[in-house]
Amino acid sequence: VNNGLKKIAVLSSGGDAPGMNACIRAIVRTALGQGIEVIGFRQGYRGLLQGLEVPLGRRAVGNIIQRGGTILGTSRCDEFLTPEGRARAAENLRERQTDALVVLGGDGSFQGAHALASECGVRVIGIPCTIDNDLVGTDYTLGFDTAVNIALDAIDRIRDTAESFERLFFVEVMGHTCGAIALEVGVAGGADDVLLPEDPTDIEVLCERLQLGFEHGRRSSIVVVAEGGFPGGAFGVAQQVWMRLRADYRVCVLGHIQRGGSPTARDRVLGSKLGSGAVDALLEEHSNCMVGEVDGHVCFTPLERTWNEHREVNRSLLELAHRLTH
Ligand code: F6P
Repeated sequence: VNNGLKKIAVLSSGGDAPGMNACIRAIVRTALGQGIEVIGFRQGYRGLLQGLEVPLGRRAVGNIIQRGGTILGTSRCDEFLTPEGRARAAENLRERQTDALVVLGGDGSFQGAHALASECGVRVIGIPCTIDNDLVGTDYTLGFDTAVNIALDAIDRIRDTAESFERLFFVEVMGHTCGAIALEVGVAGGADDVLLPEDPTDIEVLCERLQLGFEHGRRSSIVVVAEGGFPGGAFGVAQQVWMRLRADYRVCVLGHIQRGGSPTARDRVLGSKLGSGAVDALLEEHSNCMVGEVDGHVCFTPLERTWNEHREVNRSLLELAHRLTH
């Protein structure tokens, strides 16, 4: 019935993302439904190396679907980057008689999973969990929707004070080298400009537009800056604008607030689909692939594609942002 799968292991790795718990719950419940036992390793690959094992029964995943972060904990582990580290990890999995490993993480974590598969013959499945939405093979990564909504709520609040003081605000959002969060939040939050790594900004043009806005009676401005969207981030661009316009400004870096809190309905549903899909992938004898969702359908993508291929910015949303901000 379950293709010889008796026991699987799961861990979360790299930046935590809201929805990871919904995903872990779905893995456990789907697997148990197929008669497959599940264990977890705490603190990502570090816990796999140190044998930080936790049994994951039905009760262990009760009352977690609404919680942010990851009940398993996470880390970025240098030792796992070495072949010796990975050999020890594989040994730990063998000792526990696991048939496969499910990794919740981003492309860095998938590179580790892929190396473990090719060097040590471990069956691995990746689940795209990162707020950055920077992976190919899935329309959305898990956590993106929650992060966008958190950032949007913050921007709505900043608007109140910006308007009261007639101030210019530069709001920096996360995203690593990708502008997906900034673009989505910029459009949804009605920003006056959005600075993305994928769409370099000419500082003179930005200043002209801001100046024109003020001349036309705009009382406050919000500029959303992706963390990789300008050298020095929001502080960098603010300084450049100050040198030219001398306008009173404030900078707000939203930071890790965007990674916390209860996942949105969309992230809970996505986490549930992908977690369940990961078990299906193993039952269908897939390995070394990532489970994603494209056009509403669960699909599998070879892990190598997730770091070899660059995800394009959403062009139509970018055009919309240009139309509405310029
Ligand atoms: O990948 C998720 C992310 O939150 C990025 O947006 C950000 O650049 C990075 O992680 C921050 O990492 P850390 O939590 O290690 O500061």
